[in-house]
Amino acid sequence: MLTQCQNIFASQAGLVSLAALYFINGGQQMKIVIIKGSPHKNGSSNMLAEQFAKGAQEAGHTVIEMDAAHRNIHPCLGCEHCGMDGPCAQKDDMGEIRDALLSADMAVFVTPVYYFGMSAQLKMVIDRFYSFTCKLSGKHMKTALIAAAWDSNADVMPYLVEHYKKLCRYMNFTDCGQILGTGCGTPSMTKNSRHMIDAYQLGKSL
Ligand SMILES: Cc1cc2nc3c(=O)[nH]c(=O)nc-3n(C[C@H](O)[C@H](O)[C@H](O)COP(=O)(O)O)c2cc1C
Repeated sequence: MLTQCQNIFASQAGLVSLAALYFINGGQQMKIVIIKGSPHKNGSSNMLAEQFAKGAQEAGHTVIEMDAAHRNIHPCLGCEHCGMDGPCAQKDDMGEIRDALLSADMAVFVTPVYYFGMSAQLKMVIDRFYSFTCKLSGKHMKTALIAAAWDSNADVMPYLVEHYKKLCRYMNFTDCGQILGTGCGTPSMTKNSRHMIDAYQLGKSL
C-alpha cells in the first residue's frame, strides 16, 4: 500500500528521520495526543495512560486526551472518496482527532488487548487515518503504545506489538516506548502493578 507521497518519503527517509529525531524533541515542549480505545472510562489501559500523562505534563509537555471509545466515530467505508489524501466522506468526530494529530508532535495509542490485538475502538481510528495518510506520515511523529491485558504470560503482547511496529514503519512514526500491561485485567490488578510506574516514567522521560 505504498502511495506516491510515501515513495518520495522513502527516498528521503534516512535524512528526514535523523532530522526528526534531532529536532522534534531536543528538550523542547511537545504537544502529545493520547488516543484512548477502551470502553472502560476508568479501566486499566486508561489508568496507565493517566500515569503517562502525569509524567509527560510534569516534564513540561502539553497533553490532549481523546477518548475514541466514547466519541462518535465510524469505521472506514473504504469508499476511496479521499484517495488517501483528501476530505473523508464521513462527518463525525474523527475530524477533531485528525486535526489534533496533525498539529501534534506525538501520538499515544491506548488499548485493552482484545484477542491478542487492539480494540475495535482504537482500530477504527487508525483505519480512518486513510484520508490523511500522506499528511500524517509526512510529519514523522513520535508515538508510544500503552496496552492492558488480563494474562501475564509472554504470549499475550507480541501480536499487538508487531502490528504497532509495522504501523510505525509504514507511517514513519518513531516509537518512544511501549507500556505492555500484562496482568492488568482489572483496575485493582493494574493499580498495584509495576506498569503504573513504568507508564509515569515513560511520560516523564520524554
Ligand atoms: C473482547 C475481549 C477480548 C479480550 N481478549 C484478551 C486477550 O486476548 N488476552 C488477555 O490477556 N486479555 C483479554 N481480555 C481482557 C482485557 O484485555 C483486560 O480485562 C483489560 O484489562 C481491559 O482493559 P480496559 O480496562 O482498559 O478496558 C479481553 C477482554 C475482552 C472484553
